[in-house]
Amino acid sequence: MIDQAEALRHLVLRRERQEAGRQTRIVTVTSGKGGVGKSNFSLNFALCLQRLGQQVLVFDADIGMANIDVLMGQSSRYSLYHLLKREKTIWDIIQTGPENLHYVAGGSGFADLLDLTPDELDHFTEQIGKLQGRYDIILFDTGAGLSKEAARLIAAAEEAIVVTTPEPTSITDAYALVKMVLALEVDVRFRLVVNRAESFAEGRTTAEKSIWRPNGF
Ligand SMILES: Nc1ncnc2c1ncn2[C@@H]1O[C@H](COP(=O)(O)OP(=O)(O)OP(=O)(O)O)[C@@H](O)[C@H]1O
Ligand SMILES: [Mg+2]
Repeated sequence: MIDQAEALRHLVLRRERQEAGRQTRIVTVTSGKGGVGKSNFSLNFALCLQRLGQQVLVFDADIGMANIDVLMGQSSRYSLYHLLKREKTIWDIIQTGPENLHYVAGGSGFADLLDLTPDELDHFTEQIGKLQGRYDIILFDTGAGLSKEAARLIAAAEEAIVVTTPEPTSITDAYALVKMVLALEVDVRFRLVVNRAESFAEGRTTAEKSIWRPNGF
C-alpha cells in the first residue's frame, strides 16, 4: 500500500495551477505540547491574512477535540465526518464564520485522519485537491502530538507553523516534534510562533532557545 502521507502529499500538493492561476499553500499549525494556543492562533492568523486580502480556509484537523467552530461561537452542521462518509462534498462542508472566514469543522466519529481506509483517504485527498487554486492558503489546525501519525500529517504539507510557549516543556516537545517530522526525510519548511510570552524579550529568548536550523527555520 502506498504510504498514506505520501499519497496525501501527492494529491493535496499537486502543483497544478488552476485557471485562476493561483497556487494554494497548505500549512499545518502544530505543537508538541497541547494547549499552547494553536487553535486561537490559527483563527486569528487566518483573520489577519484575510484582512490583508488573502483567501483563507481554516481546516480543523483536530479530530479528537475539534473546536474551531466553538472558538468562533458557532455550531457546525457539517464536518469532515460527513465528507468522509460521502454524505457531503467538500463544498458542502465549508462554512463561513466571522468576517466571512471560510472554515471546515473537525469531525468526530473516526479515530484519525491517518487512520482512514485507503478508500476514505482517496476520497479525502480527491476532495481537498478540488480546493487547489480556490484559496491562497489552507491552514490545518492540528491536534497536539508527539505521535508518528501527527508527524506524518505535518509531513504531508509543505509548511508547518510550530507553536510553543516559553515553558521549557513546551519548547522541548516542539523540538521533539520537529525532529520526528524531519526523520521522515521530507521537505517541510518550519516556522516558529512563541505564544503567551510576557514581553517581546521573553518571546525572543524563547525563540533563541528553541533554535534548530534543520531547513531554514
Ligand atoms: N496569547 C494568549 N493569551 C491568553 N490566553 C491564551 C493565549 N493563547 C491561548 N490562550 C488560552 O489557552 C487555552 C488553549 O488555547 P487553544 O485551545 O488555542 O490551544 P491549542 O493548542 O489549540 O490546544 P489543543 O492542543 O487542546 O488543541 C485557551 O483557554 C486559550 O484561551
Ligand atoms: Mg486546538
